[in-house]
Amino acid sequence: MKRILVTGGAGYIGSHTCVELMNAGHEVFIYDNFSNSSPIAIERVEKITGKAIRFIQGDILDQYLLENTIKASNCDTVIHFAGLKSVGESVKQPINYYENNVVGTLTLLKAMTNCNINKLVFSSSATVYGNPKFLPLTEDHPLSATNPYGNSKLIIEDILRDIHISSPDWSITILRYFNPVGAHSSGLIGEDPRGIPNNLMPYVAQVAIGRLAELTVFGNDYDTADGTGVRDYIHVSDLAKGHLKAIEQIGMPQCSEINLGTGVGYSVIDVINAFKRASNRDIPFRFAERRNGDIATCFADPKLAKEILGWEAELGIKEMCNDHWAWQHKNPEGYGVV
Ligand code: NAD
Ligand code: UD1
Repeated sequence: MKRILVTGGAGYIGSHTCVELMNAGHEVFIYDNFSNSSPIAIERVEKITGKAIRFIQGDILDQYLLENTIKASNCDTVIHFAGLKSVGESVKQPINYYENNVVGTLTLLKAMTNCNINKLVFSSSATVYGNPKFLPLTEDHPLSATNPYGNSKLIIEDILRDIHISSPDWSITILRYFNPVGAHSSGLIGEDPRGIPNNLMPYVAQVAIGRLAELTVFGNDYDTADGTGVRDYIHVSDLAKGHLKAIEQIGMPQCSEINLGTGVGYSVIDVINAFKRASNRDIPFRFAERRNGDIATCFADPKLAKEILGWEAELGIKEMCNDHWAWQHKNPEGYGVV
């Protein structure tokens, strides 16, 4: 059993990961400022697991509170989800993004150092591969960034690699997520974007439920089977189980980067069709220009995760859409309506 501080644990991926960790008998302590989440998510995790969670409302920029929390929780490991994640917003608010993501992580690392803990799992993203030079994307693919969000992930990865060089006893696992979608099979927790969603699946779900009128498909002239963008969508519960495997292995001095993806790519049209089947609703859409900064195709080589973690994704596009729809249908206003 590990005692784990989970920064950003009330968020989309964090809440699903807490379910898997608690069901496996680990103890979690959530540290979140609720800037993009609700304490209701924590209550729902308690409902799913039947266990109480300790949590504190705090900012990762607050080193004093972080150190006190690490000491009070007696945790030996940290999973670090907290951060800002919208690409478009990062272009408009670079200072906010670098401060929250980079300075926030540095503050956490200082707090961990002062409290003598050195086991960390970090949420990175496939965005660090930039425009793919080859596919599938292996972990040794060259890294680049085209926006402040992606750059913040790249900078943090570099910082973590440098820490491991200077202090080889650190155990650091950098997980690079592909496109997380779906929700817990209970329909009690899921993604609750504030305002109009930027990402495809939550947008499609809100069209299906009638909150949004139609989907705009960004580009139908890509070099893909149907001309629309192809991505490696991964069920958030599979992703959460990847963290459980990472936690069970952490401890040996190391710093590794591992893709969490399925290795399978689906187009925007594939997603629309799968979601139509799951929801039995119409999804009106129209084609428009490509979105600035988008790439044609992106999917993972997931072999290393299987080799190192003994993990591979089990759920397909059908389960992703079914579970995303169940969450949307049961919670049309997200956590806004209990
Ligand atoms: P999310 O916004 O749902 O969760 C992030 C959580 O961190 C929220 O609960 C938020 O309130 C909290 N938070 C933000 N800034 C904080 C701060 N300064 N102090 C304390 N708490 C803070 O996002 P998510 O989708 O669950 O993503 C989790 C992590 O995974 C993020 O680091 C994100 O960049 C990364 N990631 C997400 C995706 C994705 O598509 N969702 C893809 C790749 C990587
Ligand atoms: C986006 C981010 C990326 C981040 C990833 C996971 C951008 C440019 N990139 O990637 O950094 O790591 O989310 O959080 O924001 N699409 C539509 N209509 C929509 C929304 C999306 O057609 O309303 C298309 C996109 O053009 C793309 C696919 O759907 O082809 C998936 O888009 P999205 O869910 O935003 O994910 P990414 O673009 O992969």
